[in-house]
Amino acid sequence: MKRKIGGEEVSAIGMGSWDVHDPKAFYETLLYAFERGINLVDTAEMYRTEPIIGEAMRVYGKPDEIFVTTKLYPWHLKEEEECFKALERQRRRLGKVPDLTLVHWPEDIATEVRVLEKALEKGLTRMIGVSNVTKEQFEVALTAPKRHEIVAVQNKYSYWFRRTEEILPILEEKGIALQAHTPLEKGRLLHDQKIAKVARELSVPPAAIAIAWLLSRSPVVIPIPKTERKEHLDEILKALEVKLPKWALDELS
Ligand SMILES: NC(=O)c1ccc[n+]([C@@H]2O[C@H](COP(=O)([O-])OP(=O)(O)OC[C@H]3O[C@@H](n4cnc5c(N)ncnc54)[C@H](OP(=O)(O)O)[C@@H]3O)[C@@H](O)[C@H]2O)c1
Repeated sequence: MKRKIGGEEVSAIGMGSWDVHDPKAFYETLLYAFERGINLVDTAEMYRTEPIIGEAMRVYGKPDEIFVTTKLYPWHLKEEEECFKALERQRRRLGKVPDLTLVHWPEDIATEVRVLEKALEKGLTRMIGVSNVTKEQFEVALTAPKRHEIVAVQNKYSYWFRRTEEILPILEEKGIALQAHTPLEKGRLLHDQKIAKVARELSVPPAAIAIAWLLSRSPVVIPIPKTERKEHLDEILKALEVKLPKWALDELS
């Protein structure tokens, strides 16, 4: 299953990389994910996972086929020069220009988006977007760039946390991707009674139900769960094989 970011096809599920405990295990899981057709990875200046992702892409051998989202600290988005330096560091750590760069958390979103737009025009990122935005901040971000458009929003979105659905209609109308972060509620969602019940009845792991539910909400949604275990990734990827029947969607409504 594929989804789109800025008109380019990416896998419908991406790999998160926050809070990696065992870098070697994460690296091996990432390579395994690439081999299984996942071509979207999320990082940020804050995560310090760019070198692992860069090495996995290099060993995989086709870095241009992997779509990397990164996010910059707000203090690197106040001035163009700081942003350019931060993105140059990202390029060195990743071994390629980031495909998509987001404002990690907004402070003065109009300025931050315009600074990112300048970086895009200098070739330091291929696309731009925002993260952790309210509806009001999102609306400002939509009109802030002068010559380009934001192509993605990365907000928290899970079965338990649905506030970001208020911007779904505009995202769908404009074809802007919604990268759903914390889609498993850090693993806690897998113990939800309704998720567990549907999982039991359909004989699939709870992680697959949590991700399949997000995929069912809209064609612009792209969940980005994090795992550093191949067996957990196998469970997550079962979401791509599950079509939630009406009774299950009703149960989870
Ligand atoms: N923009 C932002 O401000 C922001 C904020 C938060 C997150 N994010 C992004 O979104 C990504 C995902 O969010 P998250 O990492 O915070 O939380 P998450 O994806 O909701 O949950 C990750 C946790 O779930 C566990 N897990 C994964 N698959 C599992 C399975 N099949 N069974 C049991 N446990 C499982 C992982 O452990 P194992 O590794 O042991 O599998 C990990 O502890 C992040 O990594 C990051 O890239 C962005």
